[in-house]
Amino acid sequence: MSKRRKHSWPQPLKGAESRLWYGGDYNPDQWPEEVWDDDIRLMKKAGVNLVSVGIFSWAKIEPEEGKYDFDWLDRAIDKLGKAGIAVDLASATASPPMWLTQAHPEVLWKDERGDTVWPGAREHWRPTSPVFREYALNLCRRMAEHYKGNPYVVAWHVSNEYGCHNRFDYSDDAMRAFQKWCKKRYKTIDAVNEAWGTAFWAQHMNDFSEIIPPRYIGDGNFMNPGKLLDYKRFSSDVLKEFYIAERDVLESITPGLPLTTNFMVSAGGSMLDYDDWGAEVDFVSNDHYFTPGEAHFDEVAYAASLMDGISRKEPWFQMEHSTSAVNWRPINYRAEPGSVVRDSLAQVAMGADAICYFQWRQSKAGAEKWHSSMVPHAGEDSQIFRDVCELGADLGRLSDEGLMGTKTVKSKVAVVFDYESQWATEYTANPTQQVNHWTEPLDWFRALADNGITADVVPVRSDWDSYEIAVLPCVYMMSEETSRRVREFVANGGKLFVTYYTGLGDENDHIWLGGYPGSIRDVVGVRVEEFAPMGNDMPGALDHLDLDNGTVAHDFADVITSTADTSTVLASYKAERWTGMNEVPAIVANGYGDGRTVYVGCRLGRQGLAKSLPAMLGSMGLSDLAGDGRVLRVERADAAAANHFEFVFNRTHEPVTVDVEGEAIAASLAHVDDGRATIDPTGVVVLRR
Ligand code: GAL
Repeated sequence: MSKRRKHSWPQPLKGAESRLWYGGDYNPDQWPEEVWDDDIRLMKKAGVNLVSVGIFSWAKIEPEEGKYDFDWLDRAIDKLGKAGIAVDLASATASPPMWLTQAHPEVLWKDERGDTVWPGAREHWRPTSPVFREYALNLCRRMAEHYKGNPYVVAWHVSNEYGCHNRFDYSDDAMRAFQKWCKKRYKTIDAVNEAWGTAFWAQHMNDFSEIIPPRYIGDGNFMNPGKLLDYKRFSSDVLKEFYIAERDVLESITPGLPLTTNFMVSAGGSMLDYDDWGAEVDFVSNDHYFTPGEAHFDEVAYAASLMDGISRKEPWFQMEHSTSAVNWRPINYRAEPGSVVRDSLAQVAMGADAICYFQWRQSKAGAEKWHSSMVPHAGEDSQIFRDVCELGADLGRLSDEGLMGTKTVKSKVAVVFDYESQWATEYTANPTQQVNHWTEPLDWFRALADNGITADVVPVRSDWDSYEIAVLPCVYMMSEETSRRVREFVANGGKLFVTYYTGLGDENDHIWLGGYPGSIRDVVGVRVEEFAPMGNDMPGALDHLDLDNGTVAHDFADVITSTADTSTVLASYKAERWTGMNEVPAIVANGYGDGRTVYVGCRLGRQGLAKSLPAMLGSMGLSDLAGDGRVLRVERADAAAANHFEFVFNRTHEPVTVDVEGEAIAASLAHVDDGRATIDPTGVVVLRR
């Protein structure tokens, strides 16, 4: 991982004060200019103070090779700026124009089978193409030269969601780049052979030139897992290099103008290693789309907390989310009424100092015409636009009250997320397809919240070991270094939760031998010899296990065959004898050095974890940590605690009444009376304490 760039935030327009940024993607090129004045009027009405412009405008900016038309964009930016609306300007390189791909089809990426991915949508370029790189960097140069010193441009929005559509390219350009990447990482071909375990299935290579991408191998066959894992690393790195090249051109011409590129961090999203990317931007920004259904709010809060972790608690930018339905799910559910304000304030609570949407005005045509926006098809006279105005007013009030400059208060509990563990657990020849990394951190975040504890979600490379309590949920890959940190953390008094599927492989996904979890068995005081995956695709196979604490395990259980003398079994299975699981320990508490651990040897899901947590916390002497799980409380404060805010969200579908401290400075679907807040479903209050 590279050295982190210094955090730097888009500064207000000349003469304006520093406020929370509010706005969205603005695509004036989709509309006749008469609409622009109405856009500005409505933006003012909603309290919008920043928009992202030009993201998909390459074909309009450079309509023919070498011919540039900045006039329309100049007029749009000028209108915005004069109205006090700042611009986050795109490099415009995300979607190459037709003339380019017609002249140079060699920039198009290839799928696993070697088929060309044609233009017709966006991101139809390969990051390893020297030809594409030249065109894209040239556009960056032109953009930077033209907008250098423009008083209304406050940040660069480099490309858009790298890898959203072109994450894996299997072209010959990619092959050559992969060979180089392997050489840099491993130095010798023998080291690659060792890392990928090529002694298996005669995959030995004599030279770097024998390395090919994980191309199509026929259905039902299994790609070398080491190669596959490295291809995910390589693909993240190669897109990152492309971003860095764009960034460096822009920066060389407009030094000091902060740069970002929008990540796609959500509970399930694991395309690129965004924690690694976080080191390369001036401020991190995220695109997040809500998960319809019962997880909606918790997942928003979870993903926002992970962003705060990726940002190392520096202010971050919510670059895109939706006011309601998206257009890309099989069923595009409407967002629950009230969630425009509630979801955005959850992001603010978790450290976002900017709230933006995709997109400002709902398109009339094109692939995203059914995607919600800030100004819907219905126009100004609509509930969505009224919500957008209400949110603008709330963000304005929070700015007046001094929220900028505060940060999310560190929780006592860190739930660890790891991109590489996700990548390794996605492999199709693992013990089960029912388990991979990402569901478990979310279940823990939710189960802790059910017990009234708001956890911080933090990347494995961050300072999780500086928390009082840490959770390693299905952190499947555990390097020597992480294993050492685990050992030191607990020895020095840390409280650690570890689950099944943690610490199984090292950084090359080579199994730690001698019984699982190989590298930290002594710390957690258990030894697992086998696994008992569960499912219902085979009649009569084991499909669940009851625990004697009243919870039920699904999908996966460890066969714990021995526990340390220092340990206590908190729960065991109650099962029929034929299963071999009766009385096998399921949850084991242990003491190691000055610290305590609890090992959860099966998948209990959010409900089972929530129910087991009081006893688990009790075994660590942490019983008084729990609170009211109906609400999620998040605090932001500055270093001197002169400004201290609390956000209280209703997590249920019923109204809740809870005690609160301080003066209510914003409330949506809620009211506060004499230290008691009544919060409706989808409601939130913000208090100054
Ligand atoms: C993002 C993208 C936007 C828009 C949005 C729709 O992936 O950056 O341009 O397509 O999704 O949800």
